[in-house]
Amino acid sequence: MEPTDWPGVFRIGRDLYTRNALPGETVYGEDLRSESGTEFRRWDPWRSKLAAYLSNTRPPPLLDGVRTVLYLGAAHGTTVSHLADALPDATVFAVEKSPPSFAPLLALARRRPNVIPILADAQLPERYAADVGPVDLLYQDVAQRDQTRIYRENAVTCRARRGLLMLKIRSVTQRLPPGQVAKEARRDLVQAGHRVGEGVDLGPFSREHLALPIDA
Ligand SMILES: C[S@@+](CC[C@H](N)C(=O)[O-])C[C@H]1O[C@@H](n2cnc3c(N)ncnc32)[C@H](O)[C@@H]1O
Repeated sequence: MEPTDWPGVFRIGRDLYTRNALPGETVYGEDLRSESGTEFRRWDPWRSKLAAYLSNTRPPPLLDGVRTVLYLGAAHGTTVSHLADALPDATVFAVEKSPPSFAPLLALARRRPNVIPILADAQLPERYAADVGPVDLLYQDVAQRDQTRIYRENAVTCRARRGLLMLKIRSVTQRLPPGQVAKEARRDLVQAGHRVGEGVDLGPFSREHLALPIDA
């Protein structure tokens, strides 16, 4: 098991792992592996866009010094669980609007105390901003038409220091070529004053998804 550039994230060859906060337990049927008395969970890039991002690039130091994460589109908590394990001293506020997805997320949070689940619509950050406070990292994975607006409004309302937007191209529009959708998303964020890093295609793990790292 070798460390990666991200704290709390390890690899063997191309396979990524995080330390398991709950030894013996899996979250989504992932492989477990023990080394020198520590148990790790394999982080599947086919199930998690954050793992796909890490698999496809040498990422910027996104997790360095992170104590609070606002995670939009948590679903059942697959990626949330790995982030929470990679950052045991951080608090991960996990926003999900679908009640059927929220139930398993709630169960996950009962077992991982650094995950705070929030049943809310990410289009209305003013509803949870007071509970969340300023965040070090804003992570967004919601398949919505107005993904950049959701990002911008959360970034301002929750005073995010940096972020990662997993842009689902086809949710924005079916009408325009993917390159143009990506260009317009970038322009929208830059016009709002964000510094947007190099976009990373998440293929083959998540087709027509682009990861956009964002500073301030
Ligand atoms: C692709 S899934 C997220 C997968 C998850 N990020 C992971 O890696 O484990 C997208 C999720 O975003 C949620 N979602 C979509 N629009 C939302 C909104 N406006 N506010 C909060 N959640 C939303 C959906 O209900 C769905 O669970």
